[in-house]
Amino acid sequence: MSGFSEQLETAGRWIRSAERIGVFTGAGISAESGIATFRDAGGFWQKYPPEEFATWDGILHLSATNPNLLADFLLELLEPIAEAEPNPGHRAIAALEQHRRVTVMTQNVDALHQDAGSREVKEIHGTFFEIVNSSGERLRTVTRAELLDVVESLRKAKESFFRRINLASAVRPMLGLGTHGFYRPNLVLFGDGMNEPDWTESLDVAQNCDVFLTVGTSGLVLPAAMLPHEAASSGAKCIAVDPSEESGDLWFPGTAGEVLPRLLEAAFPN
Ligand code: OAD
Repeated sequence: MSGFSEQLETAGRWIRSAERIGVFTGAGISAESGIATFRDAGGFWQKYPPEEFATWDGILHLSATNPNLLADFLLELLEPIAEAEPNPGHRAIAALEQHRRVTVMTQNVDALHQDAGSREVKEIHGTFFEIVNSSGERLRTVTRAELLDVVESLRKAKESFFRRINLASAVRPMLGLGTHGFYRPNLVLFGDGMNEPDWTESLDVAQNCDVFLTVGTSGLVLPAAMLPHEAASSGAKCIAVDPSEESGDLWFPGTAGEVLPRLLEAAFPN
């Protein structure tokens, strides 16, 4: 039996014996849905440094000084998310729920776990699919179709003569000043607090699950990266799926779309 098959068998046994499973995901799980990761070669932050593009102050500054660049950034960020569909990795995690209690804790803001059918999803870095006011109160949800409309309007605005005005109105469904003050997508940017109650609930899951599965994260951003450590020190068996980031008790150096369906099959063969 090859090393990979042995590993699959061990991981399958751990998953089968678990009552509660925590699944912690990062950008890597959505890579096969066409959404770029942040730190891989050609990743998002190489082109758009987070100091400038991943804070509300930075975004406000750019809207005044370089709206075209801001529009490029928003288009590159939003378009793949608006067009994305779950991949076999998301679907395998959702299918795991048919067998065990599973809580997904994701750093992603693309809602692909929910689209794949996962029911218990903690969005620790927030989501593009919810609008909040300046105090963080939830005002409404956003559909993928609405996001696609914003992308279309942004593209038209970039080519128009009154660019600055049209860019502001393109993003107005999601970002602006309304009758109840400032509203924006419920995103956790650098310097913001974590999305609650999702973060506190995720810590609780990490401390109380039997198996903790980490998928597609560089583990460089705190406090999110604490979760696998919390799980390990609370006694969970830790499995990691990532082509290049080794971690956990058992590491599968492959992609989410390839490895997760095989892991599901190893745990619960048809
Ligand atoms: P990163 O871009 O830092 O890491 C992506 C990880 O996915 C890397 O370890 C890759 O090896 C792995 N990967 C790439 N393709 C994969 C595939 N097909 N299957 C599985 N894994 C794959 O993304 P995150 O760790 O999610 O935060 O980044 C964490 C946070 O940093 C984000 O939530 C975001 C960012 O700044 C904020 O914006 C607050």
